[in-house]
Amino acid sequence: MNIAILGFGTVGTGVYKIINQANRQTQNLHVKHILIRKNKKPDLPEMTDDIDAILNDKDVDVVVEVLGGIEPAHQYIIAALKHKKHVITANKAVIAQYMAEFTKVSKENGVKFYFESSVGGGIPWIQGLERALRIDDVNKIQGIFNGTSNFILDQMHRTGEPFNDVLMQAQQLGYAEADPSADIDGIDVANKLCISVDIAYDLFIKPDGELPIFGIRNITEDDMAHFDQLGMTVKLMGISHQVGNAFDYVVEPTLYYGDALEAHTTDNYNLISLHGKTIGVLKFMGQGAGQLPTANAVIQDILDIFQNKEHLKREFKSTFKYRSDLTKNNYIVRTEIDCSQLFKRFEPVVRGDYLVVHNVPVGEMHRLMKRVLQKDETAFMASLPEKREGAAK
Ligand code: HSE
Repeated sequence: MNIAILGFGTVGTGVYKIINQANRQTQNLHVKHILIRKNKKPDLPEMTDDIDAILNDKDVDVVVEVLGGIEPAHQYIIAALKHKKHVITANKAVIAQYMAEFTKVSKENGVKFYFESSVGGGIPWIQGLERALRIDDVNKIQGIFNGTSNFILDQMHRTGEPFNDVLMQAQQLGYAEADPSADIDGIDVANKLCISVDIAYDLFIKPDGELPIFGIRNITEDDMAHFDQLGMTVKLMGISHQVGNAFDYVVEPTLYYGDALEAHTTDNYNLISLHGKTIGVLKFMGQGAGQLPTANAVIQDILDIFQNKEHLKREFKSTFKYRSDLTKNNYIVRTEIDCSQLFKRFEPVVRGDYLVVHNVPVGEMHRLMKRVLQKDETAFMASLPEKREGAAK
């Protein structure tokens, strides 16, 4: 099977390395072309800057898009599908925007469009979700979807180091996006959550407009110490519920008690869970970022194509509507401004430097926090777990 890799960054290089090790079933795979940027000097015989030469090469069976970003990735994926090449991508940003179009064009051209590596890196999450959907409706998804932010929060928790120092370490380890704001501001989680929701509810939604997102940019060492005193650990979560004809989705820092699996998900690991009627809760854990785990998932998709393994068909026929008040949470807020008036409908209680508010619809909480951030751009919030007897809150 002949493969063209578009892009030779962290993931592209990993795909090349694993295929060239020719271990087990990867012996059947061959990298024929690697697309590099126009002004870059080729240092491998497979390298070219000519996308048309790749598209017009009849021997290329699979195009692996690992350029990242929206354009030209979108345009190349569509062109490859129209040239009857199977396409595999790890690029969550482009899938989240164009999943419906890629699905339609791949169907029209009788080729596959697979993207296991785009969510959860090396974890077989999409495969697990699709498998659950063969039997069950899935009505809850929640996940630590971003390796960089998990690495940052875990390092801060373990070492007490400040945010910027540990962000630099994540960049050096190859976990972070080229622009790490996607990792720390929750955009990357939003992309991965939307891709998961698209599959789970057979509904195409984009990570813009309504989706409430609050990242971890503002978290401090003092916040970490405070959460620790409460016996809780903070994680950046993507969460979606579906009830009746409605669904919601949110990206926000979320506190877990120390005995929750989420609290024990360390380093760059991801932990993604689904709830299905007969299967109950299923949790998938593994390395959610990094060169070889992500490349491994790309190659699993190539092998699925090689072995004619069909993935779930998507039709996007569902009519579920987004409801911003479907879920209500308690939240802890840190801000320099007095916002007890702003939150007065939600039983605000001052706890030292923090304010705890109760039973707030998720969409409303994010609207109110936007107003807080206009006056105090250092403010931070996290949702609280359900209260336990005797627990500090
Ligand atoms: N920057 C991403 C992360 C890479 O940290 O999870 C994997 O999608």
